[in-house]
Amino acid sequence: MNSPQPTMAFAPQGQQATRGPLEEVLDGLRSPQKTLPCKLFYDERGSQLFDEICELDEYYVTRTELSIMEKHSNEMAAALGPETLLVEYGSGASTKTRLLLEQLENPAGYVPIDISGDYLLETSEQLSRDYPAVPVYPLAADFTAQFDLPVAAQRRGNRAVYFPGSTIGNFEVSEAAQLLKNVAKLVGSSGKLLIGVDLEKKPEILRNAYSDSKGITAEFNRNILSHINVAYRGTFDVNSFDHQAVYNADKARIEMRLLSSRDQTVRVCEEIFTFAAGESILTEYSHKYTVERFGAIARDAGLSLREVWTDPENLFSVQLYEVA
Ligand code: AVJ
Repeated sequence: MNSPQPTMAFAPQGQQATRGPLEEVLDGLRSPQKTLPCKLFYDERGSQLFDEICELDEYYVTRTELSIMEKHSNEMAAALGPETLLVEYGSGASTKTRLLLEQLENPAGYVPIDISGDYLLETSEQLSRDYPAVPVYPLAADFTAQFDLPVAAQRRGNRAVYFPGSTIGNFEVSEAAQLLKNVAKLVGSSGKLLIGVDLEKKPEILRNAYSDSKGITAEFNRNILSHINVAYRGTFDVNSFDHQAVYNADKARIEMRLLSSRDQTVRVCEEIFTFAAGESILTEYSHKYTVERFGAIARDAGLSLREVWTDPENLFSVQLYEVA
């Protein structure tokens, strides 16, 4: 088969409505509660560590979502309908997407969006070989910033966004609401959203999932500092920061932090930041929702709930929405 080789589109850099990643890092470290953007976890080492997290007994998230997809991808594909143009936010290895692509009736195309460009082209080429009937239009972009679909994909099919992994949980509720509004605008009238949303559950299960006994999550958390050292000329002493993951029940979210084990100063791109012993950097929120609470946020964004799939223990959900 000679399937067309995917060529990659890059989001235009011109329309700088948002700050670049370096500015985000510096602004975060300048604020009273120091913060770092959780998307910076995923350099090469970070992506490896995340894959290791997904294999942990305590980390139910990935395994549970995959089991839901394996069991129900046929119903999901039927609900998405024929001639779907599937746009994936944060496509990574596209593992779960394969289950959908295999079930979709005459898909109009697949647009994987990821910030990591190299990996994206590799994955897209493999997908084109495995599904020669599905045109693949990879887009290297930050889906939280403004972006346009690749031109070749713009006039194709009935748009549906696929946003798995409960990555939506990493955004503050107000940011998640805005992101859902952007999704509704992108897919247009009667467009769809298929989204993985992690559910509220016993705090103990959550604490164990984000503070595993092997310390992989701790290493994953600290790796953000190594990434900043390399990418933004940082001088973090990675081993002088300790992993912490607490469940904030009022906000229904895991909060991950790195705690400085001593007084110290750190430079990032020539700027000096001081840390007192015990001072923290907030690195990630992971919000947990009930189906009702998430549905209400989506409804405000113009999206109506059509179907929900969960696992027998109600740990995770995959939810289908349609622009009302
Ligand atoms: C990227 C949303 C799947 O919030 O559970 C795993 C990232 N952080 N362990 C999550 C993560 C700590 C993760 N997701």
